[in-house]
Amino acid sequence: MADLLTGKIAVISGAAHPRGIGRAIVEAMSANGATAIGTDLAGAEGLDDIRGLACDVTDAEQCESLLDDVIQRHGRIDILVNNAGVGVGAADFMELTERDWEISLAVNLRGVANFCRAAIPRMMDEGGCIINVASLAGTGAMDSIPACYTASKFAAVGLSKQLAAQYAVNGIRVNALCPGSVVTQMHQQSMALLAESHGISVAEAQALEDASIPLGRSAQPEEIGKAAVFLASDLASYVTGVALPVAGGMAPGL
Ligand SMILES: NC(=O)c1ccc[n+]([C@@H]2O[C@H](COP(=O)([O-])OP(=O)(O)OC[C@H]3O[C@@H](n4cnc5c(N)ncnc54)[C@H](O)[C@@H]3O)[C@@H](O)[C@H]2O)c1
Repeated sequence: MADLLTGKIAVISGAAHPRGIGRAIVEAMSANGATAIGTDLAGAEGLDDIRGLACDVTDAEQCESLLDDVIQRHGRIDILVNNAGVGVGAADFMELTERDWEISLAVNLRGVANFCRAAIPRMMDEGGCIINVASLAGTGAMDSIPACYTASKFAAVGLSKQLAAQYAVNGIRVNALCPGSVVTQMHQQSMALLAESHGISVAEAQALEDASIPLGRSAQPEEIGKAAVFLASDLASYVTGVALPVAGGMAPGL
């Protein structure tokens, strides 16, 4: 990779899992010269490997104190990637519980808002870049995805656009990054749901998924990492307020 982010200080949420998208973003940004600080829930698998910092994004105070810590250690924050997310609930809307709705909105929407609220005042002087990892399911309805997930990701896209409009004048770019199908632990859950709702095996569900992707396969997390580097870099200096699909040509539904 090139040195697209030399000297930049980046914070990435939900970055612990060794095969997760957040970890891949940390690695891609580091490979491009950034100081990339991963955060995740305390005790999350893999957090120690990246010398990550504990932060529950549903707790606004934890987001504030984490960024205080980053500013104290590094003097600034240039890039925030809100990647932490949850995929919970059944494919059937009527089976969704109160808890499914609560946790989906708490992490996928309010968690993003909490971290943006903490970061924006600290980016005001010199500008910055926020990337909210939403989903292709934040741009259209998709087969067997829980409605609470789709709704929360649409909300994250809407939040990104509103913030992009408000803070463009301060030199803060805000974009949503919308992966389609990426091979991670969350992907295993969505394949299980797809299999269940079609009455097929998980392997058949993956084949069904592959057939719906023009590039013919799910992405590897590293491919989302590269897109995040692009959005954070000067290559995207005139890109704000977009919901960028990184989905192998997969099309959202309605
Ligand atoms: N895998 C896919 O196919 C896919 C597709 C579209 C969008 N996404 C999105 O990409 C992001 C990363 O997902 P992934 O597939 O790498 O799954 P993942 O489960 O590996 O990553 C999610 C991370 O978020 C963390 N997290 C959950 N709740 C948190 C909280 N309250 N505070 C802080 N961290 C918390 C988890 O510990 C985990 O490390 C998510 O926002 C997800 O919705 C994934």
